[in-house]
Amino acid sequence: MNRTEVVQRLRSQRPIIAPSMLKCDFANLNQEIERLAEAGSQVLHWDVMDGNFVPNLSYGAMLIERVRPTTEMLFDAHLMIADPGKYLDEYIKAGCDAITIHIEAAQDPVPLLRRIRAAERVAGLALNPGTSLDAVAPFVDEIDLLLIMSVQAGFGGQSFIPASIEKLQAARRLISRETILSVDGGIGSKTIAACAAAGTDLFVAGSAIFDKSDYKLAVAELNQLASRPFST
Ligand code: DX5
Ligand code: ZN
Repeated sequence: MNRTEVVQRLRSQRPIIAPSMLKCDFANLNQEIERLAEAGSQVLHWDVMDGNFVPNLSYGAMLIERVRPTTEMLFDAHLMIADPGKYLDEYIKAGCDAITIHIEAAQDPVPLLRRIRAAERVAGLALNPGTSLDAVAPFVDEIDLLLIMSVQAGFGGQSFIPASIEKLQAARRLISRETILSVDGGIGSKTIAACAAAGTDLFVAGSAIFDKSDYKLAVAELNQLASRPFST
């Protein structure tokens, strides 16, 4: 699938609930992936942490590459790593469909985003809660996906930062209709509807899925809340 086809697939499947694999049971990875597929997930979100850009260390391209042939779900890699340019090719080779780098980690993101697009992958830019949208505004034509972090990148299970709603609204106005707007951090039944109303397309969810025993029910509930017109 080329980049345009991936973007189209993502757009046609909105709202997209993307399980954050950080919280999955790695001792039973195959089974977890099967359960997520049965739950109707279309996208797996892979949180890559390097113990440098963020304090934690998670997993890298080698693991993603081994898992890639086991499922047809799209792979959305969220690189929370310093110097992403150094490792970009590994994530391309691993078969990630979307690759998102942090604006705070990239001095000049343009060549990196162009490399991702040249490899026919979806190019994403992420920004932490403390980073203004002004930081990504010059690059909106270079991206297919904008990821608004609604918690500080680095840990699962944090509380959603309410100011993220306004940021999502502003982000939606900033980017084109074709660009996927994604949110990550503290997404659950209490927060997802407001994010959807702000124009979000893709919702990353860790705890809200993996802390539940029935993934299908959890994904269905999030999907329903993200699909409904929002009222306070
Ligand atoms: C945070 C990660 C998230 C996180 C989401 O740095 O990018 O993807 O795992 O987990 P929850 O949904 O539990 O906040
Ligand atoms: Zn993430």
